[in-house]
Parts: sequence; structure tokens; C-alpha cells
Amino acid sequence: MEEIYHIPAMLKETIEGLAIKPNGVYVDVTFGGGGHSRAILEEIDNSQFTIHNSQRACKESVQKGHLYSFDQDKDALSNAIDDERWTFVHSNFRYLRNWMDYYGVTEIDGLLADLGVSFHHFDCPERGFSFRFSAPLDMRMNQTAKRTAADIVNGYSEEELANIFWLYGELKNGRGIARNICKARSLKPILRTEELVAASRIPAEMSKELARLFQALRIEVNDELGALREMLVAARDLLKPGGRIAILTYHSLEDRLVKNFLRSGNLEGTIEKDFYGNNLSPFVLIEKGREASPEEVERNPRARSAKLRVAEKKS
Ligand SMILES: C[S@@+](CC[C@H](N)C(=O)[O-])C[C@H]1O[C@@H](n2cnc3c(N)ncnc32)[C@H](O)[C@@H]1O
Repeated sequence: MEEIYHIPAMLKETIEGLAIKPNGVYVDVTFGGGGHSRAILEEIDNSQFTIHNSQRACKESVQKGHLYSFDQDKDALSNAIDDERWTFVHSNFRYLRNWMDYYGVTEIDGLLADLGVSFHHFDCPERGFSFRFSAPLDMRMNQTAKRTAADIVNGYSEEELANIFWLYGELKNGRGIARNICKARSLKPILRTEELVAASRIPAEMSKELARLFQALRIEVNDELGALREMLVAARDLLKPGGRIAILTYHSLEDRLVKNFLRSGNLEGTIEKDFYGNNLSPFVLIEKGREASPEEVERNPRARSAKLRVAEKKS
């Protein structure tokens, strides 16, 4: 059976939230299977318009609208779109600003981030993202990155592991799990997914806990929150007045970060007010954590944890 690379969550709601201008410049920082990117391109004008310059009696064709799509995983390139209005950027989105400078883009009309991993990551056994398969403990979205999940599991102190499990996996027993892992690795390095499951001593039937353990490690391996922070600041500065940012989050920590950033316009989440008590945030909130409809969750259960937040840059 052919693999489904990804099914985009809340596609219609996200595209509506972006209120796409046909001649605008857009960025999808998480291309994946390209579902959202394709839908953005459908809204961008694909006609050429002609400037008639009667004095010089010449005609000039100018392309309207463009989409830049980022992905740090080279596998995403298998979904490349053959369209001159589209540019793929094989990079971590934390370098958004540098890449826009490189392409001579000083401002953008909208940005979409559909955070986290794709179905491809979960369903591709050898990438090591899922406890469902026996595989090397890898979990790198960027296959050329230096640090794997095995490096973290075998190299971090018990306390560092406990913090990750608690913070990124919200595992109540993070400390106990870290202790079990450290005991097991003192006998033999933990190099495979099934070895991590055994070392954690989380019973196989507690699949939610196992999923959280793997999620916590994945977030640390890919420095997901660090990259998100850098991208949010760059997006705020690049957005034109009236431009929109749409973000789909999948777990509470990243959602809190995005929520506070969009409310305040800064990473600290500090809401500054003027003399009259008006919020000085650069954004107006459009969507405040919308969830997928029950029908969508029925069709695509992986959309159940998605939350959509949309904001518009104030004029
Ligand atoms: C949830 S999927 C996006 C799916 C996409 N919206 C679609 O319609 O198919 C997230 C994608 O973003 C990529 N990604 C996650 N974090 C990234 C980062 N910091 N920089 C670049 N790409 C990233 C992942 O490799 C993955 O392909």
C-alpha cells in the first residue's frame, strides 16, 4: 500500500484564517506533504499581468504572488510542487529571516506553521519516532543533524531527562522513568526504540504514556521550542500591516508559547498597555485556539489535538 505522507489538519479553517491576497507573498514554514501549501497556491493568482508602457511601447510581464515553503526534512522534497510561483527552502524555519533576506523578500503577507511531525515521521519505522516499531533511536527531522534521541537517552543526566519528560511530555512520573532509564543504561547503552520502552518500565498497554515519552524526546532532539521562538520573532517582523499568521499547535507547551506571543507580540508574553489601558500588542487575534470539528477528527483522528491560532498584524 502506498504511504500517505500526511493529511493536513483544519485545512479549510487555516486557509480562511490566512485571508489570502491573490498577489501576496506567503510562507509555509512546515511543508511536509504539501497539503497546506497546495491550498495556499490555489488562492494565489496564477495569471501573469501585463504592464503597458505606451511611451516606450513595450510590454512587461510581472508574476503575481509567491509561496516559499520550508522543511528541514529532505523527504518532504518528494512532494515538491511543479509551479513557478513556488520555492522550496530545505532548512530549519528558525532561519526564516536569513532565507527571506537571501531571496530579497523584505515583507510578507502571511505565514503558516503546522508544527511538529508529519504522518510520514510516525509511520516510517526506521526514523525511530514511534514506539510501534523496532528501530534505532533516532527521531531527527533533519537527517543531517548531529544529535539523535540515543545521544540524549544515554548522555543526559537523570535530572535533565526527568525535566524533559515532565516539561515536554507532561509525564507525572517523569522522575521515576528517568531513574529506570539511567539504571538500564548503566548495564548497556539504550540504542533502539524497544530498548527504551523496556528501560522506561512503562507497561506496553499504557500507550498514552509511551507516546508522551517519545514526544518529549522528539521535542528535545529537534529543539522544537527553540526553533519556534526564533521563527515567531522573525515572522512578527516580516509581516506587513494587515498580514496574517496562522499556527497549528499540537501540545500544550507549544500552544502556550504561541498563545502568549500572539497576545503580546513578545516571547515573554508581557502585555504592554498605553496610558489609556489599550493593548499595545502588534497583533489582533482572529482565531483563539479553534479545534477540529468532530467530523474531521472522525475522518482524521490525528487532528484531535490540533489547535488553530490566527492573528493579524495591526495597521
Ligand atoms: C505537521 S507537518 C506539516 C504538514 C503540512 N502542513 C501538510 O499539509 O502536509 C510538519 C512538517 O514540518 C517540518 N518541520 C517541523 N519543524 C520544523 C522546523 N523547525 N524547520 C523546518 N521544518 C520543520 C517537519 O519535517 C514536517 O514535515
